Amino acid sequence: MGKIKMTAKVLRHDIIASDIYSLILSAKDIADEAKPGQFVSLYSADGSRLLPRPISICEIDRNAGTLRLVYRVVGAGTKEFSTLSSDDTIDILGPLGNGFKPEGSKAIIIGGGIGIPPMLELSKQLDCEKQIVLGFRDEEFLSEEFEKHGTVYKSSDAGNIGVKGTVMDAIKEYGISGDIIYACGPLPMLRAISEYALANGIKAQLSMEEKMACGVGACLACVCNSTDIDEHSKVHNKRICKDGPVFYAGEVEF
Ligand SMILES: Cc1cc2nc3c(=O)[nH]c(=O)nc-3n(C[C@H](O)[C@H](O)[C@H](O)COP(=O)(O)OP(=O)(O)OC[C@H]3O[C@@H](n4cnc5c(N)ncnc54)[C@H](O)[C@@H]3O)c2cc1C
Ligand code: FES
Repeated sequence: MGKIKMTAKVLRHDIIASDIYSLILSAKDIADEAKPGQFVSLYSADGSRLLPRPISICEIDRNAGTLRLVYRVVGAGTKEFSTLSSDDTIDILGPLGNGFKPEGSKAIIIGGGIGIPPMLELSKQLDCEKQIVLGFRDEEFLSEEFEKHGTVYKSSDAGNIGVKGTVMDAIKEYGISGDIIYACGPLPMLRAISEYALANGIKAQLSMEEKMACGVGACLACVCNSTDIDEHSKVHNKRICKDGPVFYAGEVEF
């Protein structure tokens, strides 16, 4: 089955850190199809903001038919979503994008900032040795939930949580090694991980959360430079929304 547009009911909506919300939606048809690393587009009820906002799937519960999304309020769209209450509804489209592919036997799972949420479902589903590295600004969220699924290492910009510095500083400090890296976070973090993975011959699947418009591959608003030629546009680029958001290190420029 492909992507599904549906009206989802809000089952739970909590604030879990400053400006960070956890939203549980009843969305059985999408939950049945979704994979870790995929995302959904959320539609604003306000017609003046027509573009849907992409948010990664943080958890999938097929038995309950629910999706969990964890998002940070940064602008008008996410501010509007933050006002949703239980029993409200929201239109969503998904599952979108390609998601992570399980491989390897010793995984390094890395999440930075608001790139942390999609790594939770991946941590749950991967069946191998898991080392989880979480990078925060100065406030922790979701760490206890990750601790159920692997060994968790932390870093923070402020130095108040784990190693002071970036997730790469934590990897070096704790001597973390593996045969596959999965990561999601800000571009400078993905760039550093990509360079590290290529220099050390480790495969890396990296999820980009760049700005998007249509979210379904039609408008080319989200292209990034790639090493091979895209079949759709016949140039050296890839659409993050459709060809990604997960790419291998070396496949695109970070
Ligand atoms: C595949 C994908 C998955 C994502 N998953 C999540 C997620 O799980 N949780 C989450 O909180 N956010 C996620 N994002 C980012 C989220 O889509 C944006 O934060 C959101 O669209 C902003 O909408 P807005 O109307 O609130 O802000 P806008 O008014 O559109 O923008 C407000 C500010 O946010 C910045 N901004 C807008 N979009 C992005 C973006 N994509 N990345 C970085 N900065 C942005 C703008 O430059 C501006 O400074 C994801 C993005 C993509 C592409
Ligand atoms: S957002 Fe339109 S092609 Fe990606």
